[in-house]
Amino acid sequence: MENVIEVNHPVIKSLVTELRDINTKSYVFRKTLNEIARILFIEAMRNEKLINREVEIWIGKGKFPVIDEEKYVFIPILRAGLPMLGGIFEVLKNAQAGFIALKRNEETLESVLYYDRVPPLKNKTAIILDPMVATGGSLDYAIKVIKEKNPERIISLNVVGVPQGLSKISKKHPDVKVYIAQIDEKLNDKGYIIPGIGDAGDRAFNTE
Ligand code: PRP
Ligand code: URA
Repeated sequence: MENVIEVNHPVIKSLVTELRDINTKSYVFRKTLNEIARILFIEAMRNEKLINREVEIWIGKGKFPVIDEEKYVFIPILRAGLPMLGGIFEVLKNAQAGFIALKRNEETLESVLYYDRVPPLKNKTAIILDPMVATGGSLDYAIKVIKEKNPERIISLNVVGVPQGLSKISKKHPDVKVYIAQIDEKLNDKGYIIPGIGDAGDRAFNTE
């Protein structure tokens, strides 16, 4: 799984434990997803090429390095990916976003697409935001939808996954770099991650 990077940082591990805690209520759950997304994004940008922007500073005009915001389109997978977008906007304040909604059929574990509103991706880096990679079906589906729009590159930021789903993505999409906060042990017979964080969409939006 060469294209899957588990981000081993004490802060990120502590935040994941906060998500696991069943006493973490939806507001803090969303806020924690937001914080983890910000750290994952910073990690994903570690070796990114910068552009020089002309800036007027206290001693006059000069050129200084910045991330080329226009190059990136952030795509949260609704619902559970939505709280991650706020964390990105805290770093890239003028970033573009597109939306894909997928729902896993909890009987068959197949993903169903019910909303696709992604802007043109030609010459862009598409960054997928979704907390969970369980069977990997949803991420695989999202990548297929995004690839049809011909982006230059795809990165996925995820919070908790299991080897089963991640190796599926790795085999089918070796060109997609996946940054994940925590690789957990396994899936249970209902396709939930063990130990995991429970149902991320329900916990984020206080539904059952
Ligand atoms: C969750 C999660 C992923 C998917 C992962 O979404 O956010 O998109 O499950 O499972 P998979 O790897 O087996 O496909 P869910 O379908 O529960 O929808 P929700 O975000 O609206 O709750
Ligand atoms: N979706 C979730 O929200 N949680 C899991 O553990 C698996 C899929």
